[in-house]
Amino acid sequence: MYDMFVRPSGAAGEEGVRLMARSGTAMAREAVSLLGVEDPQARVLEIGFGPGLGIVALTGLLPAGEVIGVDPSEVSHRHAEARNAAAISRGNVVLLSGTAQALPLPDEHCDAAIFVDNLHFWPDPLEGLSEIRRVLRPGAPVVCAFTPPSGGPPSGLRRLFATAGFVDIEESVSANGSLLRAVHPSSV
Ligand SMILES: C[S@@+](CC[C@H](N)C(=O)[O-])C[C@H]1O[C@@H](n2cnc3c(N)ncnc32)[C@H](O)[C@@H]1O
Repeated sequence: MYDMFVRPSGAAGEEGVRLMARSGTAMAREAVSLLGVEDPQARVLEIGFGPGLGIVALTGLLPAGEVIGVDPSEVSHRHAEARNAAAISRGNVVLLSGTAQALPLPDEHCDAAIFVDNLHFWPDPLEGLSEIRRVLRPGAPVVCAFTPPSGGPPSGLRRLFATAGFVDIEESVSANGSLLRAVHPSSV
């Protein structure tokens, strides 16, 4: 389980990332759409991109924007790089090694963030959300989503976002799974 889905590595990780790629497109598109980013030049972060389906959806929405992906797995990097090779060579996508709890980005660097089937793997979700808050500009939206195979959202998710200081928290359920949208507070 750990090598396959939590932090893909080795042969199990290759298989895990291929399985994610088969079923994740619809939720990746829905999460990106729910973000509601309107600025075509926005800089959007995806944390835990796995096979890179969210990166594909983000570059589709923001052909003139910048998409930054952060993931600690070498296997995930390889698959996401192959899937997004053209956008990377155009300079629209940058994939970085790192984790939610230690994002390799400066303060207030991003205009929005998504993370799909990811938060339940972080060692300390509150620490991860605080770190995401640090790298977002005030007023930036985030979408946290879970597909059914992930087991769904952890209990207390809304309270966790509120404790991390996010506002305008809205939860929804669709055919693709569960989603939560929240906003970075405008004044910190
Ligand atoms: C189940 S996959 C989900 C991939 C993708 N978001 C999707 O829905 O297809 C989990 C991904 O999160 C990454 N990951 C694991 N722990 C992480 C952490 N602490 N911070 C950021 N990413 C992490 C893994 O390396 C893996 O690529």
